[in-house]
Amino acid sequence: MAEKLRVGVIGAGRWCASAHLPGFTGSPLSDVVMICDVDRELAEARAKEFNIPEVVTDYEKLLSRSDIDVVDIVTRGESHEPLTFAALEAGKHILVEKPVCHDYRDVLRADAIARSKGLKTKVGLTFRYAPAVQYMFDLVRNGYIGDPYVFNGYEQNSQWLDPDNPMDKRIHKVKPAGEEPFGTDFSREGIHVSSLEGYGAPTIDIGLELVNSDLTQVVGLLGNMVPFRRRTNLDTERERINIDDADMFMAECANGALYSMQSSYVTVGNYPGIEARIFGSKGALKVRLVEEFGVIQTLHGAKPDAVEFVPMEIPDKFFPPAYQPGQRWDTVFYSGLVHNFMQEIVDGGETNQGNFAQSARVQEIINAVAQSHREHRWVNLPLEG
Ligand SMILES: NC(=O)c1ccc[n+]([C@@H]2O[C@H](COP(=O)([O-])OP(=O)(O)OC[C@H]3O[C@@H](n4cnc5c(N)ncnc54)[C@H](O)[C@@H]3O)[C@@H](O)[C@H]2O)c1
Repeated sequence: MAEKLRVGVIGAGRWCASAHLPGFTGSPLSDVVMICDVDRELAEARAKEFNIPEVVTDYEKLLSRSDIDVVDIVTRGESHEPLTFAALEAGKHILVEKPVCHDYRDVLRADAIARSKGLKTKVGLTFRYAPAVQYMFDLVRNGYIGDPYVFNGYEQNSQWLDPDNPMDKRIHKVKPAGEEPFGTDFSREGIHVSSLEGYGAPTIDIGLELVNSDLTQVVGLLGNMVPFRRRTNLDTERERINIDDADMFMAECANGALYSMQSSYVTVGNYPGIEARIFGSKGALKVRLVEEFGVIQTLHGAKPDAVEFVPMEIPDKFFPPAYQPGQRWDTVFYSGLVHNFMQEIVDGGETNQGNFAQSARVQEIINAVAQSHREHRWVNLPLEG
């Protein structure tokens, strides 16, 4: 086998531990050689847990290492954009958590730089790498549904139904300094995009693949069902935070199919809580990634002459190499993402699913839905400018 890809990870927090590092350590194509976190103690604990030889606190030290092929950015939101551009500048293949940037035009700029340098990119659109979803894509490509007619996507989980569950998931020892609080414009138009950019994004991504088309226009509403909640773990009082914790939009596809989405993290259901359904001229498929009684994924199919949906067994080839029955959903799905990325880099061809270009398509739809809500109207895609 070819030499393994050498990986440097920036951000040693919770998602790094439950998804990214199990993914990299489970792929036979990668070796994590360095981990960086501004919190040295945390980085050292992760290094010990996952057998990573080097720890740094300054990401520039990691980027300047010519022996690192792939950079994994798993810090929180606002830092994704500057770290992404710095890693591109340093000539690294990049995996970054979503959103890469809040404005789709910036994601396209990053995509253009990556392409000009022959670099591969991957965004944390986790759910397309669930074995059930990869099998569903394969069935659709091979004609199982025929021509696509209707897509319905849902994010349905209750992770923020409890107003005392802090908006900010980080465990702070002291109040975060220098961070602009969001959701402080209480007007209808001022609502801060949240759920739609959270698990809305990977659901939109799955929908685009299933309808196999761009969208031409969208109309949507962003809602705030739980207006008062604790902002951080250090707050004892709830405060008004105007965020979209529930939203809906519908859209028309360039190929004539209809597309609808509901995304919400205040709807009762188990984490991660994603469902996607596609109906076509020759059949229908529905995938459910809502952990129920220990089952992390199910896929059902139906045909015009056998309309009762039946469970479909997912072939072994769609599971990541280190898969073990009973593993958590985040480990299984993210291991699929990481191994797929490693494979794409090693293969060296054009194939690069879920890359910056795809993430920009998703982000453009999110930006269009937010605009539709603000301006009370249908918005055409592509957006102007
Ligand atoms: N794709 C998914 O399904 C999914 C699921 C959960 C979380 N996420 C995303 O993963 C990211 C990380 O989430 P988390 O829960 O692990 O957050 P976290 O706060 O637990 O961890 C982030 C870590 O990054 C470190 N950090 C921040 N800026 C840094 C910098 N400039 N240099 C070095 N270290 C830095 C912090 O000290 C922290 O330890 C977020 O963007 C989140 O939205 C994605």
